[in-house]
Amino acid sequence: MNLPELKIGDLTARFPIVQGGMGIGISLSGLAGAVAKEGGVGIISAAQPGFNEPDFFNNSFGANCRALTKELKKAREIAPEGIIGVNIMSRGYYYDDYVKCAVEGGADLIVSGAGLPMDLPGLVEGTNVKIAPIVSSAKAARVLLNVWARHHKRTADLVVIEGPKAGGHLGYTREQVAEHANDGYEKEITEILAVIRTFEEKFDRKIPVVFGGGVFDRKDIDHYLSLGLSGVQMATRFVATYECDAAPEFKQMYVNAKKEDITLVNSPVHMVGRALLNPFVKHISKDRLPPETCFHCLKTCDPRTTQYCISMALIRAARGDVDHALIFCGANAWRVDKIQSVHDLMMELTADPE
Ligand SMILES: Cc1cc2nc3c(=O)[nH]c(=O)nc-3n(C[C@H](O)[C@H](O)[C@H](O)COP(=O)(O)O)c2cc1C
Repeated sequence: MNLPELKIGDLTARFPIVQGGMGIGISLSGLAGAVAKEGGVGIISAAQPGFNEPDFFNNSFGANCRALTKELKKAREIAPEGIIGVNIMSRGYYYDDYVKCAVEGGADLIVSGAGLPMDLPGLVEGTNVKIAPIVSSAKAARVLLNVWARHHKRTADLVVIEGPKAGGHLGYTREQVAEHANDGYEKEITEILAVIRTFEEKFDRKIPVVFGGGVFDRKDIDHYLSLGLSGVQMATRFVATYECDAAPEFKQMYVNAKKEDITLVNSPVHMVGRALLNPFVKHISKDRLPPETCFHCLKTCDPRTTQYCISMALIRAARGDVDHALIFCGANAWRVDKIQSVHDLMMELTADPE
């Protein structure tokens, strides 16, 4: 059976596959453009995209907005007809300004997680830019969409459910992650879908919902579609592609990873994250690495007490200094065994299994 298209309002992706946003510097125009060109939805991460700009250390927001604008333009050149979105963490400083920058830069879609983006509808008002919150529970979906309905008289264009097998920061405690180690989060997905249905009825429109976290192959995609989802969000598989914007050393870490190398870390933003066990993770689990400078990235981090600077740890990762960096990954990264082109990966994921 052919995979269905993914309709997000008046936008149509040929395949129901959203490439998850990956900061810092992992999903920029190279990856997002390639995925959009192949018929998926490409997402650029707005987490410090300007880390290579000359003024990044003393003018982070200016450097980041300039870089984000350039990345959007480059992605659009790679995929003139494709869907290009931007992932912006709602707990970040300058959230409103990043949304404005992404809208002005020509993003089709804003995806926002790491907290509930209560004010997002107001920030895109008067534009045709689509909005997609990331939620992890039925309660979060209900609270957020109720606020949007009441204060903004609108609903989401797409909802992303991020499950406990995802990479990067997780919306779960260690106990919740352990509880779902052997399932696909199906019970919660069904509950979240029931909440979304009530908003579909209220607004008399379809709200597509995609699931991300551990989705690895076509079998997984078919399974999640069978639950009533409209598609999937995938990130880990896209890291191991030539077009991914990460350094080759970062990608190779995935290829070399064994199951026991995948671990959970405490992030300075008081969330649990999933990453590869390396000398950096061993160090910060015992000793503090005081930040040399503060990039004012996330409101929930206190530079005076933080165990380490997450921005610097992720910038080193993007640059390939993999022993001194935080290598975020999904729970299935150990199953990655090669680096391939986005085209080949999309073919593999979308080919009729018969
Ligand atoms: C290296 C890496 C970096 C990530 N960074 C972010 C991020 O900055 N913001 C975000 O919302 N999600 C982030 N994620 C989560 C992904 O967007 C995605 O939802 C999730 O990883 C999907 O699960 P999968 O990796 O098993 O496919 C990251 C994931 C990875 C692997």
